[in-house]
Amino acid sequence: ARIERQIEQRTLMLSGVSHDLRTPLTRMRLGLSMINEEDAAPLLADVDDMQRMLDEFLNFAKGAAEGEPEKVAPHGFVRAIVEDAQRGGRQVALLPPEGTGEGMVKLRKVAMRRAVDNLISNAVRYGSQAEVSVMLSDRTLRIRVEDDGPGIPEERRDEATRPFSRLDPARNQDKGGGVGLGLAIASDIARAHGGVLRLGESARLGGLRADIVIAR
Ligand SMILES: Nc1ncnc2c1ncn2[C@@H]1O[C@H](COP(=O)(O)OP(=O)(O)OP(=O)(O)O)[C@@H](O)[C@H]1O
Ligand SMILES: [Mg+2]
Repeated sequence: ARIERQIEQRTLMLSGVSHDLRTPLTRMRLGLSMINEEDAAPLLADVDDMQRMLDEFLNFAKGAAEGEPEKVAPHGFVRAIVEDAQRGGRQVALLPPEGTGEGMVKLRKVAMRRAVDNLISNAVRYGSQAEVSVMLSDRTLRIRVEDDGPGIPEERRDEATRPFSRLDPARNQDKGGGVGLGLAIASDIARAHGGVLRLGESARLGGLRADIVIAR
């Protein structure tokens, strides 16, 4: 309990700092808009980066416990997420439902959607296409996201899941700047549901296979 309290205090402090930094950042953006565009452009890009990192951190700090658990039909829930991603122009497909389980599962919808979204955005960022599938049994729900990218070698999977850790920055460079929170957030959210995020290798596509597995 003491460790938990300490983590909570530290997270609170960090989100306080992150939040406070947004005001001066907004001022900097304003100030930059008044100077010569050519000089300002790289600085504006830095300000944008900082803003994005703060936003992501604040999301992270908001935590996995967000929202009350609600009963949802898992396949329909995931289908809606995939359809939104498709409308956003992402190469992602939903596979047919698996497993013999029936009925509803209690989920914190906002948080779980964020977790699945994070896995999909990784899949299409590091690979070129994603496949999502839902397996429901009597006892567990598994939401799986697979891709055709380079995957993550077994010995680096723990590291990849840690907050702010990005593997192989050279390889990631042209993939857009992430801050390294996507998997940490997904893993936190799985845990808040009494489950886990499990990383493996996709037998279907050869890239990463990321499973959120929770007991029902
Ligand atoms: N589907 C994937 N295929 C290959 N490597 C991956 C995949 N998903 C994550 N990784 C590796 O794990 C690292 C951590 O992923 P994570 O989602 O936590 O952060 P990020 O994608 O770098 O940034 P963010 O998600 O915060 O925008 C990534 O930088 C990347 O090196
Ligand atoms: Mg990511």
